[in-house]
This record gives sequence, structure tokens and C-alpha cells, in this order.
Amino acid sequence: MNLALQLKTLYRKFPVCKSLALAACLVLGTASAHSQSPSAAIHYNPQTHVFRIDGGDVSYVFGVNAKGQLQSIYWGQRVAATDSFPAAQARPPWASFEPSTDTTPQEYIGWGGGFYYVPDLKITFPNGNRDLVLKYVSHTIHGDTLDVVMKDISLAVYVTLEYQIDPATGILRRSATVENKTGQPFTIEQDFAATWNLPANNHYQLRYLTGRWAGEWNLQKEALHPGKVVLGSRTGTTSHHINPWFAIERGNPGDQDTGAVWFGALGWSGNWQIAIEQDQIGQVRITGGFNPFDFGYLLKPGQSLRSPYFYAGFSHHGIGGASRLMHRFELTRILPEGPHPKLRPVLYDSWEATGFNVDVAGQEKLAEEAASIGVERFVMDDGWFGERDTDHAGLGDWWPNPKKFPHGLKPLIDKVHSLGMSFGIWVEPEMVNPDSQLYRKHPDWVLNFPNRPRSEARNQLVLNLARPDVKAYVFHVIDHLLSTNDISFVKWDYNRNWAEPGWPAVPTDQEKEVYVKYIRNLYAILRELRARHPNVEFEDCSGGGGRVDLGIMRYTDEVWPSDNTDPFDRLSIQQGFTYAYTPGVMMDWVTGSPNWVNHRVTSLQYRFLSSMEGSLGIGANLNKWTPQDFATARKMVAQYKTVRATVQQGALYRLISPLHGSEYAVNEYVNQNGKQAVAFAYLHSSQKGWPFPHIYLRGLDPSATYTFRMLDGKAYANTPASASGAYWMHVGVQLYLRGDFQAALLELDRQ
Ligand code: DGJ
Repeated sequence: MNLALQLKTLYRKFPVCKSLALAACLVLGTASAHSQSPSAAIHYNPQTHVFRIDGGDVSYVFGVNAKGQLQSIYWGQRVAATDSFPAAQARPPWASFEPSTDTTPQEYIGWGGGFYYVPDLKITFPNGNRDLVLKYVSHTIHGDTLDVVMKDISLAVYVTLEYQIDPATGILRRSATVENKTGQPFTIEQDFAATWNLPANNHYQLRYLTGRWAGEWNLQKEALHPGKVVLGSRTGTTSHHINPWFAIERGNPGDQDTGAVWFGALGWSGNWQIAIEQDQIGQVRITGGFNPFDFGYLLKPGQSLRSPYFYAGFSHHGIGGASRLMHRFELTRILPEGPHPKLRPVLYDSWEATGFNVDVAGQEKLAEEAASIGVERFVMDDGWFGERDTDHAGLGDWWPNPKKFPHGLKPLIDKVHSLGMSFGIWVEPEMVNPDSQLYRKHPDWVLNFPNRPRSEARNQLVLNLARPDVKAYVFHVIDHLLSTNDISFVKWDYNRNWAEPGWPAVPTDQEKEVYVKYIRNLYAILRELRARHPNVEFEDCSGGGGRVDLGIMRYTDEVWPSDNTDPFDRLSIQQGFTYAYTPGVMMDWVTGSPNWVNHRVTSLQYRFLSSMEGSLGIGANLNKWTPQDFATARKMVAQYKTVRATVQQGALYRLISPLHGSEYAVNEYVNQNGKQAVAFAYLHSSQKGWPFPHIYLRGLDPSATYTFRMLDGKAYANTPASASGAYWMHVGVQLYLRGDFQAALLELDRQ
């Protein structure tokens, strides 16, 4: 195409181009041509110095103001392509106490020049200077990515801000790379990826997720006020306590699927921080990256440091819409097999059945029983290696225990394969028991401060993965395991937090780099293992959900959200999880009753329906099951296979929440292809004979016809066999549920 024709086409597609620079418009055309949807674009207006990023249903706008600061202008629902934004103008100071630097919302800011909110970057230079004032230098746009370079007013400290837009969801990925061109080393003391800004408003509601071991994924909600809410982890890992995710609603919409919501998540599996700060005039700044506590990174001349990725998006369909965007984004842009991750197979795991007491005969028996109900993957959990008879020994020695597996793992793996299942195995490679051959040989390989205690948890210590020799060992030992055995799945566990995070082998001024280098090496090991063993899938586990974030999710196929497998507790645990993460990665086991956590007794059917709202697994001791249990399980596993694509990769609508003393819970999933919708309904405890509330479905095509059937449980007899989407959404369905811990599953199929 010649240039004139190219321009004519562009002007037709993007009328805004007539008022933009030629280069910007060509980029707009290129970005659109290469993206999944023609609606993504990044452009820069050289007259106003305004950047505009559009993707999905979102516009994100900022400009370079007269002071050279990057000033945020707009982030929210997409506006017309013809809308132009005026140049950014720095805000005036608020009296002598609050300079313009503080009142002007900025995209990224160094600590300097009198800035009193949370800065993105803080550096101490060798001469004692700690003042850093960054200004715009240049930018480049390539496809869906914008790089903006900033530099300090006098020192050769460069920061490249990267913005990458997902055309389908409008979710932005931001990071900052600091480069030292000063000729002298300096120490970075605080390093965030980005600041996201929201306009002044007194009615913001903040949501975030908190928890503890076996009690993860509790959704918190609080009004924002002037001041700061700091979410973070100092455990060395993502942590059970708070997850690196937030959402901010404007106003207080009473419905899941209405209202404006900004949301985001960090991709980092080590110490992290997200600070949400409302300033004195009501503006909100959200910063996130490495946790600044005990942080120190010596950047030598010529070196650079990249922050973690900070992802964020906007939905005008409420917190429900925000989750659906996150789920789609994770399935298509985060997971290693994205944009088309495979459906999760139905899995059996031996942990709750056999604990450490594993051997060939016992595992083969469980495998036969699992295969008989339709399980597709058999996983041998902890206890198969080294001297691992309890949690006191063996971690670090990743070879089969010769007493338990005298001929290695092959006989068991062959047996599992002969039953038509793939084979998976448990490992915890970042840890070592002092009672192990590895620790006896390399006591210096663990995190420690010399001549100080080494605090054990679960009788284990943390190997210092930041060390090149430890990184090489961990990679080698797992690579060897996968190279010498036909293993399709690795459950990668991590069962304690850090203590005494010392790294005595490096100079003192570099010891704190352990916080960055450990995690980057963990990612590198997983990346390399995946490259060398492309048919092996990985589960991210940390004593349940202690290490779930968008960083590790780039290298793992599924997640173990909690060690709590009680099916009723799981309703709120699983729902909390889905505020940030897709059910497509959430492994949910059916285990024994009474449940080990709280001794609650529930039916096998109820346990199955609770576990079917994600990736179905079975962790019960099958040796204790009756023929009736096997028959129920066979039926439920078969049912699950007919709805799993919808549950794992569809759109989730939370119709009735299990929280806040609710007697009920209902979740609905609509398949990506629109052909199937399913709803899981639970009655916790029937009171005074109240009927189960009407279920009004969502996300259907109002004019299409859907046939109705109950896969499990009963609806009232007058429910039509088929009706329009409008009928199911407005007239709804009435289920017949009575008693305690009852559940039902309904299905609508589009004709
Ligand atoms: C913690 C995990 O969350 C469990 O599922 C199990 O794998 C144990 N570790 C084994 O030690």
C-alpha cells in the first residue's frame, strides 16, 4: 500500500488521526492491525504532549506538563476516538505546605524536591545525596507497548517506564527499569513499578484479600479516607496474610455487576507492597512493587533493575465485571499456555489419604480406585523421597526412598499409565531439612546470619536460591527427576516463611539483594524446566494459597488455593480467590467426611458440587469408600466433564454470596461460546422452612432460547423445559432445596 492510500485508510478507520502527527497515526494503525482486537491503540499528540492508550473498554491518558513531569489525566471507561484531551497542567501548590509536586497526580515520581506521599523510587548516592527529580526525556511506541524514558535533572539516572495494553480487556501492565549511567554505584532503597491515580472523590471503597493458613481469601471492604492503607508481605513470599490484589469502587454499588471499579495486582512472589493513599484533597494514588522494608539494591555503573510488573484495569460492570476481566486476562495473557490454556484434568492426590506413608502397593491401589471413577491424573504427594517418613527429614534429597520404591518410580508410573492416567509428583525444592544429606553436605546453602540461630518451621530451612550454586542444584535435581521419569505434572510446594534472611557469601552492601535475586532465580528455574520439559505441567502450592500472584502464575498451570478442604468453608475460600484469580487454575479436592479441619459432616454429593467450581480433584482416602460412594463419584466426575469448560474458562457471575451469615450461595458460569450456562446453588442451613430464593441468571442472550435441566438436585415442577434468555434472567428459576448442606447444579443450553 502506498503512503497516501495507507493514510486514507487510517483516516477512515480512525478519524482522530487527522488531528494527530503522522508517526503517531501509523503506530495507531500498526497496533490495531497486530492486536487481537482492532480497538487497541496507543498514540501521542506532539502538540499537546498527551499520550492516550485505548484497549478493551478503557482509555488511559497522561501527558508531559510544562515542568517535564508525567501527569495523569484520565483512566476509566473508553471515550470516543474523536475526543481529545487538553495538555496536562501542573496543579498549583496548596499553600506553602504542599508544593505543586504533591498536588499534581504523577505517573512515576522520585523522592526529591519535597514530595510527601509514597514515591516510586528512592536512591542514596555515594556522596550522601538522596534527592531525585525525574523528568520526561523521550518515548517510543511499538505495537501495544509504550516506553517512556525519564531522567534525573542532573544525574545520569534513567528510568524507563513500560506500559503494555491488552487490547481485549484494557488491562495495563506497567513496570519501571532503573539504569545507572552515573559512573558510580548507588543504592536503591525503594523501587515501585508505577503510581496509578484516581481523581478526588470522597466515596471510594477499597477491597482486598486477607487470610491465614487454612483460612485464605477473605474479602475485606473499607471506605477510603485521607491517609494510607498499606498492603504487603514481609514473609519473603507472597503470603497467606494479604494477597497482592486490590479493587476500588466508586460509590457503594449494592450490586456485583454495576458501578465503576479500578483494580490491580502485582506480579511478584517475594516481599511486596501496595500502598493506597488518599491525599488531603481527596485524590488517590496507588503504588506497588518491592516491599521497601529492609530493601537495598546496589546498582553498579551500567547495571539496571526492573521492578515487578503491576497490572491494573477498569470495569464499569462492578466488581463482578472486574473479576471477569482479570479471569480473561489471566487465561489469555498470564498463564504459560495462554491464550489457550488446556482444560485441567480431573486429578487424584494421595496426601489426605496416605500422608507420608507412601509405597508402591498402596499408591497402586489408590490409582486403580481413582481410575475407576474417571480420574485423569494421579499425583503422589509428599513422602516418596530421601528419608521422608515424617516432616522431620528428607527435604533436599530428591531421589526415591529405596525401601518404599526399591525399583525406583517406574513401576508405579507404568501402572498409572496402564490405567489411562498421567502421573504427577510432589516436590518442595526450595527447602531443606537439617536431617538430610543435602544439609549435612551444604549447611551454608540456607538463608542465615553467621553465628545467629537458624529458626526452623515445620523442621525445615529455606535454601538461598539467590546463590548461583543453589539455583544450579535445584534446577539440576528437578531436571534429572523429570528427565529420568515419565512425569506429566509437578506439585511445587513451599511450606514456610523466611527468617534470618542473610546471605553471608556476598559483600554486606549486596546482601539485601536476596529479596530480588531469590525470586528472579525461582522464575528462571521454572522457565528453564518448562522449556526443557514442555509436556510437564506445574501446580503452584504453598501450604495452600501462600504464594499466589501474577508473577508465579506466568510459570505454573494451576494453583492450590488452601489446605482447608471443608466443602462449606471452601465456598467462601473459593469465592474470595475468584475476586483476583480465574477458577480455571483453582484446584479443589473432594476429601473425607468428617473433614479434618472442623469435623463437619457433609454428603459426598455436596462435597463434589463444592469442588466442581474450579478444577476438580479428589483427595479422599478411597480405601474407605463404599460401593455407593464410588457410584456417586463416577456420576459426579462424568457430570463435571460436561461442564468443566464453562466453569474453568467461562464468565463467572456471583448471584448470591455465601458471606455475611447468608444461608445460601449461588454462582453462575457462562461458557465463552455462549452455548452453555451452569449454576451451582448451596443451602447452608435451612431456617424456618424458608424457600430457597429465586435464582435470576445473568449474562445470557435475552432473545436466544435455552433448554433447562437439573444435573443435580430439584427445581419446582412448573419450571419450563425451555425458555428465552430474558425469561431465565427475569422470571428466574426456583429450586427445591431443604435441610443442611444441600446443593444443586442446573444447566441451560442454548438452542
Ligand atoms: C502442603 C500442601 O498444601 C498439601 O497439599 C500437601 O502437599 C503437604 N504440603 C505435603 O507436605
